[in-house]
Amino acid sequence: MTSSSEELVVARGIRKDFVQEEKTVRVLRGVDLTIRRGEMVCVVGRSGAGKSTLLHILGTLDLPTEGSITYEGRDVTQLSSKALAAFRNRTIGFVFQFHHLMPEFDALENVMMPGLIQGSDRTKLRARARALLEEVGLGHRLDHRPGELSGGEQQRVALARALVMEPALILADEPTGNLDSKTSEAIHRLFFQLNETRGTTFLLVTHSADMAQRMPRVVTMKDGTIVADQRKPEGFRPLDTLGPTPDEPASASGACAAEEE
Ligand SMILES: Nc1ncnc2c1ncn2[C@@H]1O[C@H](COP(=O)(O)OP(=O)(O)OP(=O)(O)O)[C@@H](O)[C@H]1O
Ligand SMILES: [Mg+2]
Repeated sequence: MTSSSEELVVARGIRKDFVQEEKTVRVLRGVDLTIRRGEMVCVVGRSGAGKSTLLHILGTLDLPTEGSITYEGRDVTQLSSKALAAFRNRTIGFVFQFHHLMPEFDALENVMMPGLIQGSDRTKLRARARALLEEVGLGHRLDHRPGELSGGEQQRVALARALVMEPALILADEPTGNLDSKTSEAIHRLFFQLNETRGTTFLLVTHSADMAQRMPRVVTMKDGTIVADQRKPEGFRPLDTLGPTPDEPASASGACAAEEE
């Protein structure tokens, strides 16, 4: 991809301390990370290494104790909270362990929500949300509220919601953690296809060895620092690590098609 040399996010000297019962817990101890536009990066490491904390900070949901986060050269830690919220809604899609779906809205409305907040065209938004829910295998659950969905189904709704605004960056914390292997593969395929067709940048935290093997770049964290940053050889194509497309769900084409409607 010609634009791959563009830096999308640059984190410099990130430290994060939490103070608990007068004791300072040093969770991030100086993290430097540059993610280029169109990259697919996964973060691995033991439980407690600081992966989720780093993802929150990169996603501008939490401030570092020290250090800077710049998006395309702009230091977002300096933005007002209102400007930051607008920036976040436009630029980043989140898929977190706790997916925060809105209980009083059905699956379709939850997926549409980021667009409703932005004032997007409802008809187009509805079509895109529906197509994405079909992609993740939930075309038959559009009008179910979160309380009427299984944990894995709720996670897939959250995924569709993260994708609906076609953000430049997807930050995902164990996006397939609670899913069976077939559904996980379908989600991986969707991510890889979005990356190829739209150049969407992905930063994923995972405990899945399968996922890490398929990712072009793997960053390893230990005790609040990055201890390894490995790239697969030039020309590595994540989609090639998956078998042929199954007859059933999981192609990004439906989501693309929705755009034209
Ligand atoms: N608000 C907080 N106050 C105090 N300590 C915290 C806080 N949030 C996280 N920590 C501590 O920071 C460390 C890193 O947490 P983090 O959630 O980033 O780990 P992780 O690498 O994502 O782990 P996991 O793989 O289990 O999700 C943990 O030891 C955790 O107890
Ligand atoms: Mg975590």
